[in-house]
Formats: sequence, structure tokens, C-alpha cells
Amino acid sequence: MTTGCLPEHAERLIRGRRATRAFRPEPVPEETLRAVFSLAGAAPSNSNTQPWHVEVVSGAARHRLGEALVAAHDRQELSLDFPYSEDLYPGTYGERRRQSGERLYTAVGIAREDHAARATYNAESLRFYGAPHVALLFTPPQAEVRMAADVGIYAQTLMLALTAHGIASCPQGLLSFYAETIRAELGISDRKLLFGISFGYADTAAPANAITMPRAELGETTRFHG
Ligand SMILES: Cc1cc2nc3c(=O)[nH]c(=O)nc-3n(C[C@H](O)[C@H](O)[C@H](O)COP(=O)(O)O)c2cc1C
Repeated sequence: MTTGCLPEHAERLIRGRRATRAFRPEPVPEETLRAVFSLAGAAPSNSNTQPWHVEVVSGAARHRLGEALVAAHDRQELSLDFPYSEDLYPGTYGERRRQSGERLYTAVGIAREDHAARATYNAESLRFYGAPHVALLFTPPQAEVRMAADVGIYAQTLMLALTAHGIASCPQGLLSFYAETIRAELGISDRKLLFGISFGYADTAAPANAITMPRAELGETTRFHG
């Protein structure tokens, strides 16, 4: 492969993907969906096992799923396949997490101390931030961290493929807090849910989409040896 102008394209593509939290209602054409999901399948995986299983939900099914999620949330019916704890984010990680929340809530006009408004905003995100499609990423039932890593790599490949086609997305870990609800709605018996990706065309005028999340300096995350 000759590189040509690929570095500039890569820069635009990778930095052009943003977590998007407001969408226009029109659906992505079926042909584009097929092209994007085929491309995402080119993601690498341990021994080429390709352990992802993807359910793409649109139209009336997507509406039903969103309503079922909000109802499960109202009943506090949580079910996670991959455990979650606040303890996962000590020190610097917790601080970055706090800052990202701050940036988002400020953009959408929610005050720092308004915990009720934050909770409502998060609950409403279970309707996929208004995106016309959601892709739910499942692993095989026995999956642990190695397979989850493969599916994570698939997820980023998918989001970059979407970006290349002008389609915005938001990975939503929150969806995985309602794994049983999602399995029941989609008729899935045993696979484990890692997270979901809502996607569609961005509402570029929405305040939620005006934010840019900062990144750590290179030296904070990466050491070069030799
Ligand atoms: C696995 C994963 C789960 C995420 N879960 C959520 C979520 O539940 N809700 C949400 O609004 N954003 C979620 N995000 C988006 C992150 O907040 C976002 O990627 C991060 O702040 C960096 O911003 P950027 O994607 O715009 O660069 C998630 C991202 C990833 C990778």
C-alpha cells in the first residue's frame, strides 16, 4: 500500500470521530449500512476469531427498544454482563471522568450540582440520544477480557467506517447496564452485551455536539524505548 495522502486522511478521520449526542431523524440508507458494517468486519482479532456479534436496530424496533430501556431504568432493573464499579477509575482516571462529565453537562446547560437534571439527561440517553439506529455489540457467552478487547477494536473500526461515510456515532456503555432487557427485546438467549453504538447523521446545531474532549499529552500515556 502506498501511503500518499493517507496520513492526512487518517488525521481527519480519527480526529473527526466524536461522541455525538444529538442526531437528525433521517435513517442511513440500507446500502450504506451494508458497506459500513462490511468494512467494520475488517477489524483484527485474536487468531482471526472475530468474536463479535452485532445487532443493528432501526425503525419501529429501535423505538420499542428505547421505550423498554427507559421502562427498565424506571424500575431500576439493572443487569450487567461485564461488571462495573466506580473503583475502576481511581486518581487521574476519575479526574478525567469528572472533567468529561463537567464539559458535557455545561454544554447542555446543566449545573454541576443539579444531580436530578443529570440523572434525567442520562435516562433520556437510553433513547439513543435520538439516533435513528443503534448497533448492539455482543460477545460469545464465555467471553472474558481478551474477547472483549477484540470487540472493542471492532467498535472503533466501525466508528471510523461510519465517520468516513459522514455518519456520527456515540458509544454508550450505559446500554450494557440493561443487558437482560436488550436480550429479551432482540430475542437473544446467551450472548453477552459489551456496549452499544448509537449512530446517524449529526444534528450539528445541538449544543451537546459542540464539545471537544481533550486528550492526555503523549508522554502521559506512552513511553518509547530503544
Ligand atoms: C466503551 C465506551 C462507553 C461509553 N459510554 C458512554 C455512555 O454511556 N454515554 C455517553 O454519553 N458517552 C459514552 N461514551 C463516550 C465517551 O464519553 C467519549 O468517547 C469520551 O468522552 C471522549 O470523547 P470523544 O469520543 O468525543 O473523543 C463511551 C465511550 C466508550 C469508548
